Amino acid sequence: MSQLHEHIQSADWKSEKHVPVIESPDTVKAGEIFRVSVALGKEIDHPNTTEHHIRWITLYFRPEGDKFEHEIAHIEFSAHGESAKGANQGPVYTHHCAVACMKTNAAGTLHALAYCNIHGLWESNRDIKVQ
Ligand code: FE2
Repeated sequence: MSQLHEHIQSADWKSEKHVPVIESPDTVKAGEIFRVSVALGKEIDHPNTTEHHIRWITLYFRPEGDKFEHEIAHIEFSAHGESAKGANQGPVYTHHCAVACMKTNAAGTLHALAYCNIHGLWESNRDIKVQ
């Protein structure tokens, strides 16, 4: 029997369009709010059509020495050109990018998990230091 984590894919975001790109300061001040953006397609654009799109991104933070992940944000992208006229005939498309604001007193690692409706789960990570 396979386990879910065995099917979460990762790669270099510069060569793989499914990898979420996390952008944040390298170092933050303890207890001070900062922005974290997560997006796909920084180098290679991912399709955004009714048939093929990014459904959601979840951002987690695991403080150093902590056993558990803390969920920071879960963003659903709900419009992909659906319309009564048919697929890709609608006027609205949610682009697969998001910004969350957070604060922490501990250094740790941001983990982003993105779901493509065709190509499954993809992850990336980014370390944050606290001064
Ligand atoms: Fe895809």
